[in-house]
Order: sequence, then C-alpha cells, then structure tokens
Amino acid sequence: MSTHDDHAAHQPDAPDATATAATATVDRSAHLAGAGGALLRVDELVAGYIPEVHILNSTDFYAHEGELVGIIGPNGAGKSTLVKTLFGLVEVRSGQITLRGEDITGLKAHQLVARGVGYVPQTNNVFPSLTIEENLQMGVYQSPKRFAERFEEVAELFPALGERRKQRAGSLSGGERQMVAMARALMPEPSVLLLDEPSAGLSPKLQDQVFIRAQQVNRSGVTVIMVEQNARRCLQICDRGYVLDQGRNAYTATGESLMHDPKVVELYLGTLARV
Ligand SMILES: Nc1ncnc2c1ncn2[C@@H]1O[C@H](COP(=O)(O)OP(=O)(O)O)[C@@H](O)[C@H]1O
Ligand SMILES: [Mg+2]
Repeated sequence: MSTHDDHAAHQPDAPDATATAATATVDRSAHLAGAGGALLRVDELVAGYIPEVHILNSTDFYAHEGELVGIIGPNGAGKSTLVKTLFGLVEVRSGQITLRGEDITGLKAHQLVARGVGYVPQTNNVFPSLTIEENLQMGVYQSPKRFAERFEEVAELFPALGERRKQRAGSLSGGERQMVAMARALMPEPSVLLLDEPSAGLSPKLQDQVFIRAQQVNRSGVTVIMVEQNARRCLQICDRGYVLDQGRNAYTATGESLMHDPKVVELYLGTLARV
C-alpha cells in the first residue's frame, strides 16, 4: 500500500516518517513565514470522507501568484483529497482556505470556478461521447458567450485540439485526453489550476508532453498546483514542492532542494521514482 511503509520495512535505519511529519506539522513557522499574500492558502485543514476518520490532518499549504507548486507523496497520502477539498468536493471539518485573502472554505465547485479556480481530476476527466469542441464548451457552461474567444486562446496552447475539434474525446489516446481535460479546465480562464496526477498511465514521452504543457500553462500566467506520481520530474519543474504523508506536510521546500534532500530521496523518491 503506502510506498514509504514498504520501503521503510526494508530499511531498519530509515528515519520514522510519521515522527518527522508530526514534528513538521507542529512547527508551522515556515508556513506562516511564507504564506503571507499567497493567492491560495490553506491553514490547518482537516477533511475526510468517513465520519471521525480524518484524511487531511491539519494540512498547511500555499501557492503564490504565478507559482508552479508540486505535491508528491506515497499512495494514499491524501494528495487527491487535498486538491478535491480545495475544489469544494470534500467537506472541510476544520481549518481555512483563502483565495486572494478571501475566505472560500466550504464553497462549492461551481462557486470556485466562478472565482477562478480550475480542476482536472485524476480519472474520468473528459466526456468521451462528446467531441473535443463540446468538451471545451462544457468548460464555459457558466458563460457560453465566451466560448469562441476562449477556444481560440486555449487552442494556441494546444494546437492539436483545435485541428481536431470535431473528433470524439473517447477516440483519443490517454495523452490526448489529458490535453482535452487540461484545456477544458482552462476555458473559464482560471487564475489557479489544480492538476491531479496528469501524467499517470502515460508513456514516458507523453508524460514529458504533459509536464511541458503544464509549464507552458504556468508561464501563460496561471498558478499551477500539480499532484504527481512522477515525483522527480515534478520537482524538476516546480518552484516549490510539498511532500504529503498521512495527510500531513512532511517536507516543504523548493523543488530543487527537495530533490536533493537525502531524507526525501530515501523515503519518497527512491521507490516512487521507479514507478
Ligand atoms: N471517496 C472516498 N471515500 C472514503 N475514503 C476515501 C475516498 N477517497 C479516498 N479515500 C481514502 O483517503 C485516503 C487518501 O486517498 P487519496 O487522497 O486518494 O490519496 P492519494 O491521492 O495521495 O493517493 C486513502 O486512505 C483512501 O482510501
Ligand atoms: Mg491520488
């Protein structure tokens, strides 16, 4: 199940990740020092599905305007739960989420879309029976008049989609579907885009395409928050990264320093990198 558990079981000298995570959570000073003025900010978030069972255990997180932020960690760590909670799909039990300083805790997904939050789920993220164009229309269902103007802009980032607009999404490859999903989420012109494992299940070449697109989207001015199973590649391109473990922040630093942090490498990159 949990990648680091398996790993740690064979590494008796490995530091106890749970203890490390707990320490990191208690010490919130780095979060408090960095989070001021953030575009999207999460403080001591507690959320979960089954009553009394918390999946997010006092999670802190922030993304500044223009940043590309990566979230990595073992399977079941709560990465998808975190982005789903940010998008109003999982109920917040305590803690706070703010967008541009405004409290958005408890808002529903459609209200968040209207405030500039976009989300691409990990799976089932296109409508297979609809064409590419119709999928992108769904992205602006709250403001259909914007379709033509937005389609043109989005097709600049994803030229292949513009050329094949009449093709059904169900007939596309996994990599192309990820592009449709990302393009759909960009249609309402979000200021922040949440991507949940966009490279999962793709060949290394197509994974590369996804990372390049995510970077392009980010450079076009969108703040990108990306959960990734390809941890190394994610840390290479992100400005800052979070390692989530058992619903808590285990480590937070620049992508570059996380990638070279011996503890992160030992506990999270050693096995994850081979996935
Ligand atoms: N819809 C759900 N109902 C109940 N438990 C869930 C649901 N979705 C996820 N979980 C549980 O929440 C935990 C975290 O899952 P998830 O956020 O998907 O992890 P990750 O994305 O890091 O792999 C796991 O223990 C998982 O079994
Ligand atoms: Mg997940």
